[in-house]
Parts: sequence; structure tokens; C-alpha cells
Amino acid sequence: MSATGASEISPRRVLLDCDPGHDDAIAIMLAVSDPSIDLIAVTTVAGNVTLEHTTRNALRVLDLIGRTDIPVAAGRDSPRIRDLSTAAAMHGESGLAGPLPVTPSHGPSDLTAIEMIERVLSEAAEPVTLVATGPLTNMADVVEQLPHLHHMIRELVIMGGAVDLGNWTPAAEFNIWVDPHAADIVFRSACVPGADRTGIPLTMIGLEVTHRAWLTDEHADFLRDTGDVGAFVAELLDHFVGFHQERFGWEGAPIHDAVTIAHLIDPTLITALPMNVQIETESVLCSGRTVADRWSVTGLPANALVGLDIDRDRFVTMLVDRLQRIGSAPRRVLR
Ligand code: RIB
Ligand code: CA
Repeated sequence: MSATGASEISPRRVLLDCDPGHDDAIAIMLAVSDPSIDLIAVTTVAGNVTLEHTTRNALRVLDLIGRTDIPVAAGRDSPRIRDLSTAAAMHGESGLAGPLPVTPSHGPSDLTAIEMIERVLSEAAEPVTLVATGPLTNMADVVEQLPHLHHMIRELVIMGGAVDLGNWTPAAEFNIWVDPHAADIVFRSACVPGADRTGIPLTMIGLEVTHRAWLTDEHADFLRDTGDVGAFVAELLDHFVGFHQERFGWEGAPIHDAVTIAHLIDPTLITALPMNVQIETESVLCSGRTVADRWSVTGLPANALVGLDIDRDRFVTMLVDRLQRIGSAPRRVLR
């Protein structure tokens, strides 16, 4: 307890593996904005766009928010077996369509992603939370190459998968679809957080949750004049919201990846259930499907905590508030 009697809970140490991407970029900002999170490193993977662009984009975002102290390490440039198929149609070839392109002031670490993750876990005084918001290619390397450090992983929280329909094929969500073989390795090594630890505690935040976590043009306009960061986010949203309005006819754009960080900040935001989840890797039609046993019909043990819903209003309020915190202008309250 501090002198004032306030309880001082030390921030959760987090390593974020991502493929920026508009929503990944916002997830990085949210992680940096909240005092309950200590973002100790960012690793990048090919997914939304090529590894060169996802790495450049992570560096650029950390530049913008004044956190070049957070190292960025580049990981895998292609899925384990499949050829890389990107979402450049959604995020633009650069991965951050909208804001004017800016060259980062610094480069990535000399370490690869797996080397960075090994260093972070080896040197940690207490277990570290891994968050993955892109294809699980790097996370599969963690499972296979760092078994001696799995005990130093507090938990793995991913944006990926769906209990119901996919978003990149009718059956599969993009992150899992890009590298289903990596996802299969991760889910086979996973267990439900809080239960007997028989693997890496895994929380799957899928489309049932993130399709309700959307922002609109109104939020873009609200943030636009709240400083450099707000202007950047507004320009990201101008593109991302516009794409979802045209492609899907939706009012707003789901900020999928930010939900993983919001969940760490406030675990009451999402509703989740333990389930057995297996990954389809062979089917042509359904490759990358997260086969989630919502009604326990297989009798197989649950291996993940699976998100089913989110308190949208509290998520949006948190996100918009925190994005203002990074900005320079005084904060306003979203009505
Ligand atoms: O399906 C949504 C996911 O795919 C998000 O992580 C988005 O960034 C893309 O990678
Ligand atoms: Ca992503």
C-alpha cells in the first residue's frame, strides 16, 4: 500500500505480437495508454500485409506515441506451410492506409521475434502475458522452441477465430485462416486460464466479441482535433470505417485487436466460456476454422476460454478515453 493508502498493483507486463494493420495499431496505442499495462516489447508477423510493412508500421506507431524505448522485433515472414495471403485489400498495401506515410525514426531490434520473446521470458522476474493479434506463426515457434520457458508465460490472449461464421472465408477468421497449422500447434498446447495448468493458458477473443467492438465516423471526428495521436487515429478510422461501410454495409469498423488489450485492462468487459477448440487444417472449404465445442458435444476437455460477447458501450468509452490520454489535448467525455 502507498503512503496514501491506495493499493499499488504493479502493471501487467505484456509482449504484443501483431501484424499492423489498423486495429493492431490501435491495440498498441491502447496498451501504452493504460497504467495497468507495461508493454515491454512488440514482435511482428506477416499477415495483414508483408512482414516489412507490419514491422515498419509497428515502429511508426511507437514513434508517434513517443515510445521508441519499446523494442520491435521482426518474426516470421510467411505461414508455416501455406503461402502468405494478406489483407492488403482491407488495410492497403502499406497496412496503414489513411494517414500520410511516414518513415520511422528508428529500425527494429537485431533480434528476431523468437529471440526477443526468449530474452523477455528468460529475464522476467514474473510471468509475462503474451498477446497475439495476427496469425499465430510466431506463437507456434514459442510453443515448439521455448518449452523451457512456458512457465514464464502468464497467459496468451489472442484475437482470432470464431464460434460461428468466419470473416475471410465463410468458415474461417483471417488470423487463423492465414496460418491454420500454427494455430493448430498453439491450440493443442493450450489450457483454460485459471484451471489446472496443463498447457499455456489461452483466451480466444473471436468475432462474436470483436464484431460488436466497432467505432464510427463520429468517433473519428471526436478524436480528430485531440492532438497528433487523435488525428492519426481519425485518419486510420476514415479509411477503416469507410472500407467496412462499403464492403459490409456496416455503420462502423470493428477494432478487433484492441479488445485483447481492453480485456487485460478490464476482464469484466467480455463474457467468455471454457470450450474445446480444434483447428481445421485439411479441408479446402473450411481450412482455418476454429471448431469450438460450444455445447460440449465432443466430451473433449476445454482448452481455451472463448469470448462470446462484450459490453460495447464500456469498451468504446474506454478506448476513446485512453486514446485521448496519449494525445496532447485535454480529455473530453464521449456522450
Ligand atoms: O479478423 C480480424 C483480424 O485480422 C485482426 O487481427 C485484423 O488486424 C486482421 O489481422
Ligand atoms: Ca491483426
